[in-house]
Amino acid sequence: MIAAQLLAYYFTELKDDQVKKIDKYLYSMRLSDETLLDIMTRFRQEMQNGLSRDFNPTATVKMLPTFVRSIPDGSEKGDFIALDLGGSYFRILRVKVSHEKRQTVQMETEIYDTPEDYMHGSGTRLFDHVAECLGDFMEKREIKDKKLPVGFTFSFPCRQSKLDEGYLITWTKRFKASGVEGADVVQLLNKAIRKRGEFDLDIVAVVNDTVGTMMTCAYEDPNCEIGLIVGTGSNACYMEEMRNIEMVEGDQGRMCVNMEWGAFGDNGCLDDIRTIYDKAVDDFSLNSGKQRYEKMISGMYLGEIVRNILIDFTKRGFLFRGQISEALKTRSIFETKFLSQIESDRLALLQVRTILQQLGLDSTCDDSIIVKTVCGAVSRRAAQLCGAGMAAVVDKIRENRGLEHLDITVGVDGTLYKLHPHFSKVMHQTVKDLAPKCDVTFLLSEDGSGKGAALITAVGCRLRDAEHN
Ligand code: GLC
Repeated sequence: MIAAQLLAYYFTELKDDQVKKIDKYLYSMRLSDETLLDIMTRFRQEMQNGLSRDFNPTATVKMLPTFVRSIPDGSEKGDFIALDLGGSYFRILRVKVSHEKRQTVQMETEIYDTPEDYMHGSGTRLFDHVAECLGDFMEKREIKDKKLPVGFTFSFPCRQSKLDEGYLITWTKRFKASGVEGADVVQLLNKAIRKRGEFDLDIVAVVNDTVGTMMTCAYEDPNCEIGLIVGTGSNACYMEEMRNIEMVEGDQGRMCVNMEWGAFGDNGCLDDIRTIYDKAVDDFSLNSGKQRYEKMISGMYLGEIVRNILIDFTKRGFLFRGQISEALKTRSIFETKFLSQIESDRLALLQVRTILQQLGLDSTCDDSIIVKTVCGAVSRRAAQLCGAGMAAVVDKIRENRGLEHLDITVGVDGTLYKLHPHFSKVMHQTVKDLAPKCDVTFLLSEDGSGKGAALITAVGCRLRDAEHN
């Protein structure tokens, strides 16, 4: 046998043997078709609770009104600043939307560091940092004398009663700065800007990243009425009928609802499918007990689930010769990019071993097979769960519109969705299986939510002008 054949033979032999041994323990990570359908039904119920005036106060999926009432209509124009805080990067953008012959969008972006002690320190310090970065951005572009309108993409749950206010309900993901929960982030940012006294800005809109993504994609495809993020965190938004949003007066037309779907399960309704590994990840997170669905889906947590399983398997003697290394004890070693690399089909087993070695995990061939299998089970479950949520959303929209069949586009962004070799495929298939009456197109947002935030800001400016005239 030549070397490649030998390796393939060795791989299959080992695979069968090893996989059987660990299958018993990975069983809890597998979801049957019936379970997925059941999850979709539970999800629909939670959406209903969030939309209802009576149940909203205790609902876990908050279904927050955004005061964005339509997707872009092509008439938007102007010169804007977009701030993007809460995703993988803190970015500042200048977005120019013009109308020469056809509508065009020009963007300049700068990425700024947000050190962990800013995310976990005082809110004043965090917003002072944002204002300082804004100063730097404007200085470099010599626009400090212009009072430009700002779209503030703030990717956390905010209660809004108009476009230009956002009361933070609770921090999620990596953030936990003090004194911000319960406060209006527009006021906090304005205060920080005024304190510097070097420039003035007009914050016109607070925008969730899901909403910015939907708007960005809707600019290309008017059928796009849903936004989805699968990155550090996970969440979705969609255009809901005003008559169904009981928290807002009025019955005419539609409004975009920021679902904050990451909190699905926080009332215990997913307890039957949560595993000991999910619980361990939750217990050691910054917001224990919260965002349970997000913690089973998004990039910030999947690696941690994998690590917890690997620790368990090592303790049982299946892996790493039963030795728990310092590397394995290190939280967050499995970043999204490593998971994505390990699961890539193009990667030979030896390359998986090299990656594990880079992470400080001294592995045998058997070990790398097991690690790859574990990563596969965790990311597959994540994609299926995400698909069940999306199926509930598209089917609700179809029913809202009294349609036998719905054609709709979802604008998507996020590092996990973009980098992972199988996530999107599994998610799409799950939506197809669970919502057979909907034809769903997934459109990748190429430039994040900055463009979308600018488009929303443009509409906000127009509404303001109309009010003043
Ligand atoms: C978290 C936030 C949500 C955001 C999502 C994706 O779930 O609570 O607002 O949209 O992460 O960034």
